[in-house]
Amino acid sequence: MEITVLSDNFGVEITKFDCSQNIQLNDIKTLKDLIQSKHFICFKNQNLDGNSLANFTKNFGDLEAYPEKDKTKGKIEIFNVSNVSEKGEHLSPDDQRVILQKNNSRWHTDSSYRYFPASFSILYGQETLPNEAAGGQTEFSNMLIAYEDLPEDKKELLEPLHQVHSYNDIRRLEPGLPELTYEEKSNFPPVTHPVVRVHPDRNYKKSLYFTSNTSLEIGGMSLEEGKKLHSWLVQYISQDQFCYKHYWEKNDLIMWDNRVLLHRVIPYNYAKYRRAMIRGTVEGTVPVLGPFSNQIRMRL
Ligand SMILES: [Fe+2]
Repeated sequence: MEITVLSDNFGVEITKFDCSQNIQLNDIKTLKDLIQSKHFICFKNQNLDGNSLANFTKNFGDLEAYPEKDKTKGKIEIFNVSNVSEKGEHLSPDDQRVILQKNNSRWHTDSSYRYFPASFSILYGQETLPNEAAGGQTEFSNMLIAYEDLPEDKKELLEPLHQVHSYNDIRRLEPGLPELTYEEKSNFPPVTHPVVRVHPDRNYKKSLYFTSNTSLEIGGMSLEEGKKLHSWLVQYISQDQFCYKHYWEKNDLIMWDNRVLLHRVIPYNYAKYRRAMIRGTVEGTVPVLGPFSNQIRMRL
């Protein structure tokens, strides 16, 4: 494989490597080291389907299954990130599957509504926008660097705070989506995560951890203050020095670390252009630990 560094802060591109084959143990180790240190990998020129994407994803842990069955293409572990149906039809912008894609244009990290959120997401571009189209890129922001650059008083303010992450609350932001069933709601009750998280596997470094796709408030303060702080955070982490934008080419496979990066899709003309991607997700194995969680208090 050939590895090229994409930006100072994070990201590598890999060429001359076939993710559809059985991956050798030494290559898995190289990829695990890269995702740990660079947080984002783009594999160029891949040729995958749902099965081979699932097999590749399993090299990094167990596959996460999705909360709603109707969003998948065959396998519940392979998520359809697409405005194209399973049968290949271009979906209308008010189709619930497209509304869900629109929600992806808010900064988020995948499956933050779980007690143990996903570690890695692996997204394959089957159909991408033509070069002349505006939008459609996937943008990332590095929460380790964003936290480091915060003024000290902001760090102190944020440290004890939590945000509620609720799968059901996507409906609050996108009222066009149909209600969840009782069972779906019960399987994914709201969860809180600390706004500042600690990374035991990164020498106990701290980073920001928040999202805009399930709620737009921060807890531990009044509703108005919480909204104000949330929108300040959105502005702050959107600054160029923390971000990297992936310009898609067909057959790119990108992988990122949800514990470190937020991401969002840059909105595009959903009615005019087709954009079809499939995603495998590696299940998280640990909770999001804040500086005041018992495990971390004992250690720090
Ligand atoms: Fe996402």
